[in-house]
Amino acid sequence: MYFDKKKAELDDFTYPIGTTIDRFIAQKQAEFPQATGELSQLLKDIVLASKVISREINRAGLSGIEGMTDEENVHGEKQRMLDVIADVRFTRALVRGRQVCGILSEVSEGIIDAGNPNAKYVVVIDPLDGSSNIDVNIAVGTVFSIYERVSEPGTPFTNEDFLQEGDKQIAAGYVLYGASTMLVYTTGYGVNGFTYEPSLGEYFLSHPNIQQPESGEYFSVNENHFEEFPTKIKAYIKQCKDKHLSTRYVGSLVCDFHRNLLKGGVYLYPSHHLSPDGKLRLSFECNALAMIAEQAGGVATDGEKRILGIKPTWHQQRSPFYCGSKKMVEELLAIDS
Ligand code: AHG
Ligand code: MN
Ligand code: MN
Repeated sequence: MYFDKKKAELDDFTYPIGTTIDRFIAQKQAEFPQATGELSQLLKDIVLASKVISREINRAGLSGIEGMTDEENVHGEKQRMLDVIADVRFTRALVRGRQVCGILSEVSEGIIDAGNPNAKYVVVIDPLDGSSNIDVNIAVGTVFSIYERVSEPGTPFTNEDFLQEGDKQIAAGYVLYGASTMLVYTTGYGVNGFTYEPSLGEYFLSHPNIQQPESGEYFSVNENHFEEFPTKIKAYIKQCKDKHLSTRYVGSLVCDFHRNLLKGGVYLYPSHHLSPDGKLRLSFECNALAMIAEQAGGVATDGEKRILGIKPTWHQQRSPFYCGSKKMVEELLAIDS
């Protein structure tokens, strides 16, 4: 009785802290009696690495890890120190977690052998997305896709394990290192978002069952090559302007995607003369975000085909990317050109 009274008096101070991501993953696993726990462990490995990177990013200006390395990545792009740090953090967490046989990272050349030939999963990852923004303290992200390997567990992984269409993703997600750090993921049963509470070192479920608004006020595009965009895309951008929609473009894909996911909007990265397939990478960036978009009721297309239906022919394949609120992307696709 005394304790009930005390509890009631303390209600304001002892509000429930919510569902941690570990508990959420365990609850979801329990819904599938045949689940072995391997995917749950793999997700937890990603969660752990993201916490470490969140810490590194928060201190980037103080710890001397801003700026460039002397290295270029396989795309010929200059690498930043944090690109490499994020790559090492994820790779190490995944190797030690023992649930993946191989990792394909935007930062490293070739497939990384995780030394776990019996593992049934592979991961494709952009460890630090939007890294050119890091030196000016603007939000960046991580994008990841999890596939079940097509080669037999127990044998060496193959290229084909990493050339699966996005529809084959077992899970996909992103981390946004922003004003707060958020992790958003899907295993094909809706999209859930978690916010990191650094003083507890835990992610808590903050955005259950995310649904992308059918339409929105924002369009996100870098117009530097506007004149060379496909006619259809130029017409669509004109249409957005005629409707007085607002441009919002961070230049970190994860951030632009996240805003449009929650608020409604469309992200456009078209092809142009210097980049005939656009800039974004199908396997490292487009597929994971396309899966999340579709799971939340949105659409992701290359202008002709569903992103998730495209079978990559090589790891570094790029694709035009038009992604966002259903009605907006449908309007774009409906334009005659
Ligand atoms: P990354 O930092 O992983 O190389 O990705 C950069 C990508 C993406 O995050 C962003 O949307 C896009 O590049 C921006 O490109 P532009 O500078 O051409 O707009
Ligand atoms: Mn990227
Ligand atoms: Mn990157």
